[in-house]
Amino acid sequence: MAVTEAVLQARESLNVVIVGHVDHGKSTLVGRLLHETGALPEGKIEAIEAMCQRRGMPFEWAFVTDAFQPERDQGVTIDVSYIRFRTARRGYVLIDAPGHREFLKNMVSGATGSDAALLVIDAVEGVMDLSRRHGYLLHLLGLREVVVAVTKMDCVDYAAERFAAIEDEIRGYLDSLGINPIFVIPVSGRDGDNIAGGSSNMPWYEGPSVVEALDRLQAPPPLVDLPLRLAVQDVYRFDARRIIAGRIESGRLSVGDTLLFSPSNKTAKVKSLEGWNLPAPIHSASAGQSIGLTLDEQIFVERGEVASHVDDPPVETNVFRARIFWLGRKPLGVGDCYTLKLATASTSVEVQSLERVIDTDDLSTLDTDRVERNGVAEVVLRARAMLALDPFSKNLRMGRFVLFDGYDAVGGGIISMEGYPDQRALVTVKSTNVQVVEHRITADMRLARGGHRGAVLWLTGLSGSGKSTLAIEVERRLFNKGYQVYVLDGDNIRRGLNTNLGFSPEDRAENIRRVGEVAALLVDAGCVVITAFISPYRSDRERARAAAGSAFHEIYIDADLETCERRDSKGLYKRARAGEIPDFTGVSAPYEPPEKADLVVDTGDTTVEESVQAILDYVEKHIEFTKP
Ligand code: ADX
Repeated sequence: MAVTEAVLQARESLNVVIVGHVDHGKSTLVGRLLHETGALPEGKIEAIEAMCQRRGMPFEWAFVTDAFQPERDQGVTIDVSYIRFRTARRGYVLIDAPGHREFLKNMVSGATGSDAALLVIDAVEGVMDLSRRHGYLLHLLGLREVVVAVTKMDCVDYAAERFAAIEDEIRGYLDSLGINPIFVIPVSGRDGDNIAGGSSNMPWYEGPSVVEALDRLQAPPPLVDLPLRLAVQDVYRFDARRIIAGRIESGRLSVGDTLLFSPSNKTAKVKSLEGWNLPAPIHSASAGQSIGLTLDEQIFVERGEVASHVDDPPVETNVFRARIFWLGRKPLGVGDCYTLKLATASTSVEVQSLERVIDTDDLSTLDTDRVERNGVAEVVLRARAMLALDPFSKNLRMGRFVLFDGYDAVGGGIISMEGYPDQRALVTVKSTNVQVVEHRITADMRLARGGHRGAVLWLTGLSGSGKSTLAIEVERRLFNKGYQVYVLDGDNIRRGLNTNLGFSPEDRAENIRRVGEVAALLVDAGCVVITAFISPYRSDRERARAAAGSAFHEIYIDADLETCERRDSKGLYKRARAGEIPDFTGVSAPYEPPEKADLVVDTGDTTVEESVQAILDYVEKHIEFTKP
């Protein structure tokens, strides 16, 4: 082996989170592990031996770990201890988070990302609820490399059958979470069986010891190989310079790189990198480093923003799906608000919907509308402000968060964008150097000619809810009354203006953006515009409202999925259920009903005529019409 390679291998180190019941088995295992890898200071064992003798008790391995005080990380108080040891292959940091809360805090402090996990199960007690919950936490953390140690085998007479039963159960459970435990090892901390060496008590076991198993774990791909994400911590002013301080969560950056700050969407070039206590100027930095930088332009940047390279930015969104682990004393339910912390960003979020509450015992769906303490669930969260993030599957540092209720960490989770669009394209302004051309025909002149002002009647609802039917009939009636009225219908617009858009979340968002802008133009022209689009996302409808201002009226055509599916006027639900149409709204793509529609028309139990009348009544009340 070449010398440099040997050095590199020796320097490789792995962070392993150790989870299990806080009890004897875990600390004995750790004590043994430290002893057998030579991590203990000289005389430690003798000192404990003497102490135990004085107290008239057998040697207690658990006392060993008392020597390792919890460390405090960068002023963040986390009661997590980091225990270091080394094997022939590499160094290890064992991260011991005693409870769920510590585990969660550790998960977001970002100080110690875990690369792998050691799950400890007591042979006497077997796989308990707690082990399952721990398994689920590992899944939430995205840890795939897991070693399971079944401890206290001495207390079950080293019985192969007992071990086999536990192994089967835990493998089955972890498998269903997508975690494939690399090894399940029967150990005895007391006697040292299968910790670093073999076991004469368990000749039936042919696998590796705990140390060998840890040595065989793969370190995850380094964060430096991912796209650049720098979380802005603070902006300092030094004389004339403004220094942006932050932590590089992933990737690398160099002087001269153009950075894109999200969610503010501003760009500037890195002029210099400033480190603390650096002997010489640096020109580049990478994941894990906290740095300061100056830019070539004085743009306004604040804490919470994420800097990336321009061609590989994070997602911008105010709504996302999450798998959460709930610790709050008060159960979590729809409509509840919390503070979300993600990297350095902090914003208020509301639980928009509870998609699924999961029973951690068997991963089945629980029939409840609340998530109790220690429960797990899939939720949709809506943030008050736009956030820069990544799906957890792409970047674990930018795809996980913690929820706070006041100062209490009450939950943590990981992000999925499935079914939801990246809204970056919608808020990015590309056309610059353009000037507004003023019309000489005023709104009042148009009013005088047409007899009414322009307005948008924005119909939203599931496919088959009756939007088009109602829009077309309302158009006819209003036209006959003398209104200037026009319907923009989803199916029609998608055959022309939006023929290049499909049904991906981003395409739908763009579809609605364009329609919102067209509707606003027609309003300007003095028309009453009736739009008939599913428009499944609240944010898109809000943007359409913003484009048309007070002339916008949101009308929720409210028919539930069952009703729409029963009608299935176009036969699309049947095909969607058969898997022939992907991303079908209500079946495999989300629909976010309006929170406060201006009018709700329930077509489920009213006739078409009644629904049409309801809309006409609304128009009469809200759009003044004096026939010219
Ligand atoms: S939206 O989601 O982007 O607002 P829009 O209203 O334009 O949708 O188009 C919906 C119509 O497209 C439906 O009424 C249906 O006829 C057709 N359609 C085709 N594929 C899908 C799909 N995957 N989901 C929903 N509607 C679809």
